[in-house]
Amino acid sequence: MLLSIRQYGDPVLRTPCAPVEKVDLELNTLAVNMLETMYAAEGIGLAAPQVGLGLQLVVIDIPAEEVNEGECVTVNGEEKPVRSIMPLVFINPKLEPYGEQELCTEGCLSVRGVRSKVSRPNRVKATLHKLDGKVLEIDCGGLLARCLQHECDHLSGLLFTDKVSSAAKVTITKRLKNLLHLSSDAH
Ligand code: NI
Repeated sequence: MLLSIRQYGDPVLRTPCAPVEKVDLELNTLAVNMLETMYAAEGIGLAAPQVGLGLQLVVIDIPAEEVNEGECVTVNGEEKPVRSIMPLVFINPKLEPYGEQELCTEGCLSVRGVRSKVSRPNRVKATLHKLDGKVLEIDCGGLLARCLQHECDHLSGLLFTDKVSSAAKVTITKRLKNLLHLSSDAH
């Protein structure tokens, strides 16, 4: 089932999410629906607040064409191809970004029509809880490291637009204001 994606200006996107305490059928169904919604919107990640729910739940699927040849991720001490852990569905993440700051262009399914460069550390260590109870200790770089930081920011009520450089902010401010008008017209 496709869910409606909340847009910039919706307060749910600004509210920190509660940890998931119980993984039941309802949560599994939600995760499946979030994946379906993300694929339909051609995104690579979606966090629960983006579909209106204040839960620490994220889905990610980085397509093969976005992964560099031979790019690996360390999962519980073992090197694995990035694609082998996709789609990645997890709750209650703990993230430790590290490494050099890197500028990369980001967009977001909740901020339509706005793309901007964001500086973030280029590596991440993460503890992710899967819905089947398994825990993944991950160490990664590349697009997965970026995507994990972007999606986990959503769980804290942060958007990538909060993190663009002040120069780039000037460019996107007008577009963000327009998005606010669009969302108030729609309600
Ligand atoms: Ni986003």
